Amino acid sequence: MNIETAMVLSTERAYEGALITWFHAPGLTANADPGQFVMVHCSADGGDPMFARAFSYHRIDGDRFALLYAVVGRGTAWLAGRQRGDQVRMYGPLGNGFRLPQEAGNLLLVGGGVGIAPLVDTAERAITAGHHVVAMMGARDADHLLPASAWPKEVEYVVVTEDGSAGPAGFVTQHLGKYQEWASRIYACGPNPMFASLAEVLRFNGRRQSPEILMEENMPCGWGMCYGCAIFTKHGVRLCCKDGPRFNLFDVY
Ligand SMILES: Cc1cc2nc3c(=O)[nH]c(=O)nc-3n(C[C@H](O)[C@H](O)[C@H](O)COP(=O)(O)OP(=O)(O)OC[C@H]3O[C@@H](n4cnc5c(N)ncnc54)[C@H](O)[C@@H]3O)c2cc1C
Ligand code: FES
Repeated sequence: MNIETAMVLSTERAYEGALITWFHAPGLTANADPGQFVMVHCSADGGDPMFARAFSYHRIDGDRFALLYAVVGRGTAWLAGRQRGDQVRMYGPLGNGFRLPQEAGNLLLVGGGVGIAPLVDTAERAITAGHHVVAMMGARDADHLLPASAWPKEVEYVVVTEDGSAGPAGFVTQHLGKYQEWASRIYACGPNPMFASLAEVLRFNGRRQSPEILMEENMPCGWGMCYGCAIFTKHGVRLCCKDGPRFNLFDVY
């Protein structure tokens, strides 16, 4: 883990209510796995909010990296207000990321809402490693979808919206269709109800191999010191930051 003062390079709109901010931070990009995260101090002086906020790596490009975040409260509003050249204290990379298979395979990525954030970096690395990738995103409506241009061109991008304004209507887990048999591995990130639904659908359809998921809990420290992120799994209590955020879906749901 490195502690670094990252410099803001740019901020752009990802979709309604969500932004992508690029940072220059050489100490935070080397050796980061897809699905790992950084803890960002979302205040200039260590004031309010006092605790750093957790964000997944959205993309990494050399010594620059991007976060994709929904503006939901004080910390993310502060982050959204940073300008080019501003400095932001953060530490990482933290946690255990996704494990991609050695042999080329068919990888299905399933993202719900802002849970899509780590899946673009995952897709970029998977494509580079020779895998075939289908990425599915579920959102409430067309305004809350990451555009297709955000993905490597080799990725087949499938969208599902709750109101049917883009793609089929409903939840993403209701439309896995042919992709679940096609996939040699499944990776997912999203809200807990999406994980519960994913587990139910896959079990019903007889899948035995567990997807890898990235779980979110409130994380005051991010590296195993405060025990504030404990979750229950079928193997006992685990710390989401240190034992995760990658878990096997069927170990939790
Ligand atoms: C490992 C990890 C990776 C994450 N990656 C991303 C990411 O890539 N992009 C992104 O937008 N968000 C991500 N999050 C969630 C992000 O940490 C929260 O959105 C952020 O802490 C909110 O801070 P805030 O000060 O703006 O909101 P607050 O004022 O603290 O809270 C606003 C609202 O958000 C809820 N909230 C706060 N923290 C969390 C949390 N950790 N999980 C769920 N709900 C929360 C609160 O209950 C409240 O309803 C991640 C969280 C974890 C644990
Ligand atoms: S966030 Fe402190 S132990 Fe996990």
